[in-house]
Amino acid sequence: MQEQNVKICKGPGCKAWSSDRIARELLEIREALDLDGVKVCRVPCMKVCGGGTSVRFNSNSTIVKLKESDEVLAVLGIREAGAVACSA
Ligand code: FES
Repeated sequence: MQEQNVKICKGPGCKAWSSDRIARELLEIREALDLDGVKVCRVPCMKVCGGGTSVRFNSNSTIVKLKESDEVLAVLGIREAGAVACSA
């Protein structure tokens, strides 16, 4: 897997949109799925507060507003193992 960098804002505006939870869940998923290529780091306020947690992927200048860790995985193209439906 190609290395991917996920920068999650830790400013007060994004904390109000659960940035701490999103970062924590992402780190747990990263650990559970052995996604060593995914680097998660917390960064100071990106000056685009409101409407969700500000997340920047790789060196892309676009900042995305997200509300759930699933959305981060979707942008990275990662499917959570537990989310795969089983048919019996
Ligand atoms: S607090 Fe996150 S962009 Fe400002």
